[in-house]
Amino acid sequence: MNESVDAAAVLNALRAVQDPDLHRDIVSLGFVKDVKSCGGTVSFTIELTTPACPVRDIMKEQARRAVMALPGIEKVEINMTSQVRTSLPKQPLLETVRNVVPIASGKGGVGKSTVSANLALALSKMGARVGVMDADVYGPTIPTVLGVKDQPRMLPTQRILPPRAFDIPILSMGFFASAGQAVVVRGPILHKTIEQFLGGVEWGELDYLLVDLPPGTGDVQLSLCQIIPLTGAAVVSTPQDVALNVASKAIDMFRKLRTPVLGVIENMSGYACPKCGHHDDIFGVGGAKASAEQMNIPFLGAIPLDTRIRTSSDGGRPIVVSDPDSPAAKAFMGIAEKLAAQVSIRGFKSDEGILQPVVWGKP
Ligand SMILES: Nc1ncnc2c1ncn2[C@@H]1O[C@H](COP(=O)(O)OP(=O)(O)OP(=O)(O)O)[C@@H](O)[C@H]1O
Ligand SMILES: [Mg+2]
Repeated sequence: MNESVDAAAVLNALRAVQDPDLHRDIVSLGFVKDVKSCGGTVSFTIELTTPACPVRDIMKEQARRAVMALPGIEKVEINMTSQVRTSLPKQPLLETVRNVVPIASGKGGVGKSTVSANLALALSKMGARVGVMDADVYGPTIPTVLGVKDQPRMLPTQRILPPRAFDIPILSMGFFASAGQAVVVRGPILHKTIEQFLGGVEWGELDYLLVDLPPGTGDVQLSLCQIIPLTGAAVVSTPQDVALNVASKAIDMFRKLRTPVLGVIENMSGYACPKCGHHDDIFGVGGAKASAEQMNIPFLGAIPLDTRIRTSSDGGRPIVVSDPDSPAAKAFMGIAEKLAAQVSIRGFKSDEGILQPVVWGKP
């Protein structure tokens, strides 16, 4: 280091930079790495907990300014990287997957599959390694929504290699049933299927595995919570569900299964007419936020009712990729950032102990 500036002084200056989600400075969080100096130039790396960090550039600028304020510094080089954390123990079934996040709802048709697909694309766009498991054995729609063209392959190791769409590995019960054919699976087989979908698949290194659940509080949800520890669920709700307390049933189920709920998403929240721009709160708006606050659960954001969300999903190119500048795509990007932040927060709450799956009846 330069005679007047040593690593300790640089680290001390960087204590002024706070992580807004973890409410601690980046030095005590261990984010600052590889502090080096050569003449008047100081370089270091800031390793965030997710590539989906909305204040990444602001933090970089704060860090640059903090170090530039030290005497003798002429230039500051900052390398911004990320390493997604997990609150889960390494598990033999899913060794290469850091976080498993189910997308749930109290009832059908509220937009779980739409949200799963768009959030996966949003996180992937931000640089995260994402996979999608379509656990809706009764109505698998993910292959259509994400326009998956290929089929899974059985490897010589007897493990399944999932097909990819938008470079995201995807596995769905839909691959194992012909079009139009009903998938009939009973409890014990269902349990085995979910087990195989998790443990028998070459997911590769993933930061987030999103699991699109069937509606309600049935066998799939139970099996999933029994088989592996989950980082936490995101619950999708429409404004009407809030009035009918449907979402709170799903939240209550996860609480009973000791799976954290990372947040609530309000879908079909108000309608913006694509022709005249007129906004109408057909089913009401903001109810999910209020009830999330009441239940002390983070509110992750709202997605408007927008015909283009449906048409883009029907065409296999969800709105986050087909119309990234639309308000709906921006809403999904914002929700992805908030979800990633909640995962990071859980990754740091190690003092709460490791979350264990709860066996609730025999499969
Ligand atoms: N915000 C939205 N605006 C317009 N259409 C939407 C929106 N969200 C979802 N949809 C459409 O509503 C229908 C139901 O959505 P989706 O299939 O994602 O719900 P789901 O909760 O997964 O349903 P299921 O419970 O049957 O699995 C789909 O046709 C989808 O394209
Ligand atoms: Mg669905």
